[in-house]
Amino acid sequence: MRINDKSNYKAYVAAEYRYETMQYKRSGNSGVLLPAISLGLWHNFSHFDQLANADNILRTAFDYGITHFDLANNYGPPYGSAEENFGTLLKRNFSAYRDELFIASKAGYDMWAGPYGNWGSRKYLISSIDQSLKRMQLDYVDLFYHHRPDPETPLEETAVALCDIVRQGKALYIGISNYEADRTKKMASLLTELNVPFIIHQAKYSLFERGIEKELFAALDETKLGCIAFSPLAQGMLTDKYLNGIPADSRAGKEKTYLQPETVAAKLSQIKQLNTIAEGRGQKLSQMAIAWILSKKQISSVLVGASSSKQLKENLVAIKNTSFSEEELKKIDKITLM
Ligand SMILES: NC(=O)c1ccc[n+]([C@@H]2O[C@H](COP(=O)([O-])OP(=O)(O)OC[C@H]3O[C@@H](n4cnc5c(N)ncnc54)[C@H](OP(=O)(O)O)[C@@H]3O)[C@@H](O)[C@H]2O)c1
Repeated sequence: MRINDKSNYKAYVAAEYRYETMQYKRSGNSGVLLPAISLGLWHNFSHFDQLANADNILRTAFDYGITHFDLANNYGPPYGSAEENFGTLLKRNFSAYRDELFIASKAGYDMWAGPYGNWGSRKYLISSIDQSLKRMQLDYVDLFYHHRPDPETPLEETAVALCDIVRQGKALYIGISNYEADRTKKMASLLTELNVPFIIHQAKYSLFERGIEKELFAALDETKLGCIAFSPLAQGMLTDKYLNGIPADSRAGKEKTYLQPETVAAKLSQIKQLNTIAEGRGQKLSQMAIAWILSKKQISSVLVGASSSKQLKENLVAIKNTSFSEEELKKIDKITLM
C-alpha cells in the first residue's frame, strides 16, 4: 500500500565527494587533522531555532568535509539545548559516520545554579561532561575543553580533572579556551606531566580581534599547541550583511544574542573599507576574513557559525584563496590595527 507522506524528507546519506575539496590541518604536533573550516553550534541550534534548518546546516557541513563540530554545555538558549538538538540529529543522520566526526564540548561558564555549576572545579567539570554526553547521546567526545580560566581554582585541580575525564574514556583529547599566554604554558606543562593528549587552544581571533597575535601565538609556538579561531566573522560583522543597515533576521537584529546594533554601527566604517579590499581580491568579505585567519601558521582551523547552509557554502569558498599580497596585508593592518 502507498502512503501519503508529502514531506519529501529523505534519510541522510553523506555525499561521496565529501573529502574532495576540504583541506585538513594538523592541530599542533598532535595526530589530529582538523578541517580548515569547522562548524560551531553556539547559535542556530537551540530550542528557539528550526530543527529542520539545523539539520540542513549539519548535512551541508559534513557533505563538504567539515568533520569537526564544536559545542559547549551552555549553548542554547536554554543552556544545553544545542547539545540536545545536536544529539537528536546525530542519532538520526550521522550514527553510521561517528568515526568520521570530531566532536567537541566544553565546560567553564555558568551552566547550573549554585556553587558547582561554573568555573573550573573537579566537581563541576566531571558532572558537566557526564551531562553533555547524556544530552548528545554519546559515549565519548573527541575533544573536551576547559572553556575559560578560573582565577580561584588551583590550575592543578582543573588539570587533574581533565586528565581523569580522558582516563575514564569520556574524552579522547583535551583543549583550553580563552586562556592567556602564561596560564596556557602552565596548563601545558601540567598536562604534559600527566601524559594527557592536550592538543588545542580555542581563541577569539578575527580581523577585529587581534589581541592574541603577540603573546598567545608565541606561547602556542612554544607549547606546540594547535589553535582554532572562534567568531572569525566577528559574529557576522565581517560579512556584507550590515553594509546597508541591520536586517531583522540577523544576529544584531535579533533578541537573545550577544551582538548589539551599536557595536555594528561603531565598526561600520572599517567593515566598508575591508569590503573594498575583499572585492579587489574577488572574494566576499566573509571569505577574505576567513582566508586571512587561515594564512596564519598557528591556526589549525577556523570555527565559523552559520544560520543557513547557504552562508556555510559561501564561507567554504574561502579556502580557495588564502594568500595575500604585502600591499593587501598593509592595507588590512592599517584598517584593523588603528
Ligand atoms: N570558546 C569560546 O568562548 C567561544 C565563544 C564564542 C563562540 N565560540 C565558538 O565559535 C563558533 C563560531 O562563533 P560565531 O557564531 O560567533 O562565529 P562567526 O563565524 O563570527 O559568526 C557567525 C554568524 O555570522 C553570520 N554569517 C556567517 N556567515 C555569513 C555569511 N556568509 N554572510 C552573512 N552572514 C554570515 C551568521 O549570523 P546571522 O545570519 O544570524 O546574522 C552566523 O551565525 C561558535 O558556534 C562556538 O562554537 C566559542
